[in-house]
Amino acid sequence: MADDNAVVDGSAVRVDAGGWGLTWAADDAGCLRQVGLGPEGATAQLGEIPLALFPDAYPTYGGGDALRPPALRITHADGSLTTRLVVEHVSRMVEPGGEHVTMRCRDERFHLHVEHHLRTHPASGVLEQWVEILHEEPGPVRLMSYDSMSPLLLASPDAEVVQFVGGGWADEWRWNEEGLSPGTKSLASFGGVQPHLQAAPMLLLSPSGPGSERSGDSLGCSIQWGGNTRFDLDVRPKGDLAAPSELRLRCGANPLGAEYLLDPGVRFVAPAVAWTWATTGRAEVTRRFHIWTRERVLRDPNRVRPVVANNWEATFFDFDEARILDLIDQSGELGAEVFLLDDGWFGTNHPRDDDTAGLGDWDVDRAKLPNGLAPLADAAAARGLRFGIWVEPEMVNPLSELYVDHPDWVVRDSREPAEHRNQLVLDPLIDEVREFEASVVDRALCDPGISYVKWDANRPITDPGSTQLAPDRQANLWVDQVHATWAVMDEVVRRHPEVELMLCASGGGRTDHATLRRFHEFWTSDNTDPVTRVRMQWACSHFFPAAAMAAHVTRWGGRPIHFGCAVALSGRFGLDLDLLALSSDEWAACRSAVALAKRTQRLVQQGRLVRLVSPMDRADRSRAALACIDPGSDETVLFAYQLEASNRPGPSLMLDWLDPDATYTVTETDLAVAGGAAVTQRSGRELIDGLDWQLTEPETARVWEITPVRG
Ligand code: DGJ
Repeated sequence: MADDNAVVDGSAVRVDAGGWGLTWAADDAGCLRQVGLGPEGATAQLGEIPLALFPDAYPTYGGGDALRPPALRITHADGSLTTRLVVEHVSRMVEPGGEHVTMRCRDERFHLHVEHHLRTHPASGVLEQWVEILHEEPGPVRLMSYDSMSPLLLASPDAEVVQFVGGGWADEWRWNEEGLSPGTKSLASFGGVQPHLQAAPMLLLSPSGPGSERSGDSLGCSIQWGGNTRFDLDVRPKGDLAAPSELRLRCGANPLGAEYLLDPGVRFVAPAVAWTWATTGRAEVTRRFHIWTRERVLRDPNRVRPVVANNWEATFFDFDEARILDLIDQSGELGAEVFLLDDGWFGTNHPRDDDTAGLGDWDVDRAKLPNGLAPLADAAAARGLRFGIWVEPEMVNPLSELYVDHPDWVVRDSREPAEHRNQLVLDPLIDEVREFEASVVDRALCDPGISYVKWDANRPITDPGSTQLAPDRQANLWVDQVHATWAVMDEVVRRHPEVELMLCASGGGRTDHATLRRFHEFWTSDNTDPVTRVRMQWACSHFFPAAAMAAHVTRWGGRPIHFGCAVALSGRFGLDLDLLALSSDEWAACRSAVALAKRTQRLVQQGRLVRLVSPMDRADRSRAALACIDPGSDETVLFAYQLEASNRPGPSLMLDWLDPDATYTVTETDLAVAGGAAVTQRSGRELIDGLDWQLTEPETARVWEITPVRG
């Protein structure tokens, strides 16, 4: 149902996102003003203050505030650099579970429209916001930057932001908590294919004071874009040092790597930002993002993800049929549910024995696997495992038959393209390439019994360019490549709807809420050192439920296997170990961990997350504790990790969601101890008052399963 109204007369447009929102109105000149934003934002009243004194809702280059960086910059067909927008029309559409508000603006002078789209999800409190641009100018216009939104907030002098800029591969989800200072801080990623290795496209902001788990204003923002992203935090002091500053938060596609030549009549849709504003801390931001991610993003959100045993860290490229059959045997013995055969299974004339050759030649390497994949899938099935396979459809090694046959299929400009990891990116703007990429998955799945696929992508784009684009629109590659790749992924989902898909790009290089819509989960990072992983998973958990976060036990960091198991159990649990090389104690720990996974993964993946002790606490980073609970039944699984030595006393774990009058069975497991589960009964009151921190040694953990005693 559409409800149209005009706002050119100064009436307000209120968008209630569920507990917070925003109000915009057009001033006398038709310019869109931000009248209210935040917890009371959707009820802000137009008062005596002239609308023209309110902040511009979406500053444009050459618009009202010509001295600050704009959210929108377009070079028009006649070469003009400025854009001045006036509101033309507003429509509201009721949708299942929310509404879709569109505010259509037009340039005062050119036949160019910019639409602001706001889609509410009141059940979760997440708002999606983006812009769409279309024009009828006499020729193409060049979009230089087009932020998805640019709200203006007041930030107190002790406001904080948490951002996730890291050092690249194996350094995803780095928790950077910092204050704001005057000037513009840009948090950007680049490289197109795996940009989130550099910076997850997410941000936590505490505008009114230091961030806290359970209190205070907290905003969470996620840019839903599989390409280059950028947050600009533009801070301008106002008055004395104690006064709040103005903070303009511009975010969306990174203009460096998103410039676009747009033809008349073509609608350009910028990435949507998903965001929320909670008044009770980061826990509430997390709760909202988890609800929204489950409802709107993850595929099959109610399907409990299986325990995956992967061979990558066990064998790398060095395996044969007997070795894989052995690993399948052992995985079955442990009780794993999927066996995933990683990189190295393909390539005949250019066998994939290392990362220098074979990528693109998706026929089974008969030297390694003389009988193909079918006997492996059969062996897995015989041991109660499903079988999964690794692919990297978007890439090619120059040392491959594919490259010899189609040297013109790669992303490049007029220079020789640079190799990264000895490979090049296939150009998905070429029709045959898209069909080829989709067929890679068809071919990998052609043997019956393969029902899980890990989709990897192991290099960035460094030489943007396409034979499919005219010379003046080579830069369009950055944006068109993302859409074309999504089209391939969509096609794979259409052809294989039952197959579970893991999203990977050299680890967590593609952890955006848009690409994830085609997948069930992502590989959080190649860094599986459990001490680092606790911190990474902690950071990542602010935006994603554990169901999305694959976490495997490996030898990274040289930590005890029982500790690695306990850490992986708080994500989507799996193993990536040479199972034949485990000591008997390690084997026992893995076996107990798999049994524990089967009892707890439903709660871990689908329950409500409660973060209790932060491994990012400035005063003490030595510990972490978190719980996953079923609010309906109070069933709880609780994890405690001692990461490093500490001379501070451990905290009490106060389980304040439990019923003080109920009795609970508490099963405490120390995976370091064979048969190490101790079962007691405790009152809810006792558990609310707190479990004592029992861990003293670094790299130790406890897991508690807490179940109400019925009747
Ligand atoms: C990078 C991934 O992150 C690893 O898990 C593994 O699949 C390798 N690629 C294989 O080349």
